[in-house]
Amino acid sequence: MTLPADRVRIAPSILSADFAALGEAIARVEPVADLLHVDVMDGHFVPNLTIGPPVVAAIERHTPLTLDCHLMMTNPGDFLDAFARAGADWVSVHVEVDGTADLLAEMRGLGLGVGLAINPETPYEAIEPWLGRLDHVLVMTVHPGFGGQAFMGEVVPKLARIADAVAAGDRPVVVEVDGGIDVHTIGQVAAAGARCFVAGKAVFGAPDPAAAVSDLRRAAEAAVGVPR
Ligand code: DX5
Ligand code: ZN
Repeated sequence: MTLPADRVRIAPSILSADFAALGEAIARVEPVADLLHVDVMDGHFVPNLTIGPPVVAAIERHTPLTLDCHLMMTNPGDFLDAFARAGADWVSVHVEVDGTADLLAEMRGLGLGVGLAINPETPYEAIEPWLGRLDHVLVMTVHPGFGGQAFMGEVVPKLARIADAVAAGDRPVVVEVDGGIDVHTIGQVAAAGARCFVAGKAVFGAPDPAAAVSDLRRAAEAAVGVPR
């Protein structure tokens, strides 16, 4: 949590893992991943249902990885305390949901990493006022709800604008990107300023998930010019 905001981080999304063998899937990426991305869907904010605090608690007992919980929920405020108790480390709520100021304050009070997610069609202006209060900003490059969707390149200019605003500010906000990230798309989002990369299908759909994480890291570092 104290790592610099410009360090490359890879966050495998368990959405594309085998939920019946989740422990084994996590163990495979644990040595090479920086965070574990946990997609929480409520069947209302997005047209899909996934997991909630009991599963986060089980994962937390199983791995020391930082748990990056992405709450695709209409009413995240009803569950922030439960996710904190379950062991969530970073949490993102969506800027499209009402009550952003209260949600961010509650997350801060609970000691969570405070994040705000923004959908592809939501304009830059919606997130700009909040950047100074965040620990991370989660820029969606697919419409949330499902893994394995095609990367939306049209989001890249907004991502660059967000990253530029973060760089111009005095808060080390981690710029995180989520959706359709693979070795072919990671370079352009890294070049646009993203430094934390969520990847589901590209990791857990690969024959060797750990090697896939390393490949993603190498591609991102090459794009940002990190010496190796
Ligand atoms: C999409 C989720 C993503 C998803 C990404 O609703 O928020 O985190 O797991 O999966 P890929 O990398 O397969 O697009
Ligand atoms: Zn996600």
